[in-house]
Amino acid sequence: MELDFENRMMSPDTLPDDEAELSLRPKTMAEYIGQQKVKDNLSVFIEAARGRGDSLDHVLLYGPPGLGKTTLAGIIANAMDVNLRVTSGPAIEKPGDLAALLTNLGEGDVLFIDEIHRLSRSVEEVLYPAMEDFALDIIIGKGPSARSIRLDLPKFTLVGATTRAGQITAPLRDRFGVVLRLELYSPQELGTIITRSAKILEIPCQPKGATELAARSRGTPRIANRLLKRVRDFAQVLGDGEITQEIANTSLDRLEIDKLGLDSIDRRALHTIIRNYAGGPVGLETLAAAVGEEAVTLEDMCEPYLMQIGFLSKTPRGRVVTALAYQHLGLAPPEDTPQAPPEQLSL
Ligand code: ADE
Repeated sequence: MELDFENRMMSPDTLPDDEAELSLRPKTMAEYIGQQKVKDNLSVFIEAARGRGDSLDHVLLYGPPGLGKTTLAGIIANAMDVNLRVTSGPAIEKPGDLAALLTNLGEGDVLFIDEIHRLSRSVEEVLYPAMEDFALDIIIGKGPSARSIRLDLPKFTLVGATTRAGQITAPLRDRFGVVLRLELYSPQELGTIITRSAKILEIPCQPKGATELAARSRGTPRIANRLLKRVRDFAQVLGDGEITQEIANTSLDRLEIDKLGLDSIDRRALHTIIRNYAGGPVGLETLAAAVGEEAVTLEDMCEPYLMQIGFLSKTPRGRVVTALAYQHLGLAPPEDTPQAPPEQLSL
């Protein structure tokens, strides 16, 4: 079942075919579309740090995958006029790996650690003094004669990214001066991103084609850019190469991505709650077992978007499908089905 997800067209995780993403990545705050609050605040902190001739405080970015956290780290490094080093929690296996990364940084450089919630405890402990005092404590020798020496590090900026803020240990979280939450993008913002990407990739794309793609990209630029490339293939083979609304419609229908961007896994999750649990509430673990996916997969990949469009509601007793979801699936909601909570109706 997991394989299913690895090749999932609608996965917000990076897939092997996403490399062209690099050329699509905006390099400046002005080019970066959406996330207005994050951009406004970051711009102030960057300008202030630059004004003082200081490095930027450590930044924690959190939110669903595929929203541009790595891109933002690049923009920060660019704006601060420093180098960017990119790594991830699981890639840093031993304290020595982190020590090697840190000692190779230059003054003010940005170290980006993706999936920072997956750092091991022993690595995290090396990170604390590095973040706080820009120092590395190294133990020399063994047994009674062992002693610790302190190595000074350049004043760097750690940009940490995570999809799960709740899994970051309190001591680590407390060492970030700036904590920013990225939100799913609106269809309008995604439309602008798609139009920009189409221009860079020299794909002719009509505004209505972009709108159709945007509506089905589940709030996630990474998915939007991936769909753009797949629909380009259909446009070339079925049409004259231009992405029109009709081509976008036909291609996405053939990819089994529905009008709102739900794919087979989303629909299976909703159908499972409806059929097996009378619409809910059902606990995440129970649901995951019934759907045949891992709980984290459902939580990271499916739920943020289903909640954004008001199809799913989280209650203390578990997940509940809303009347909107029933209607979308062409089913009649039972009498007591909740409408979507108003704050979730953001589309
Ligand atoms: N590509 C991915 N995310 C983007 C964004 N926020 N703005 C512009 N292009 C993007």
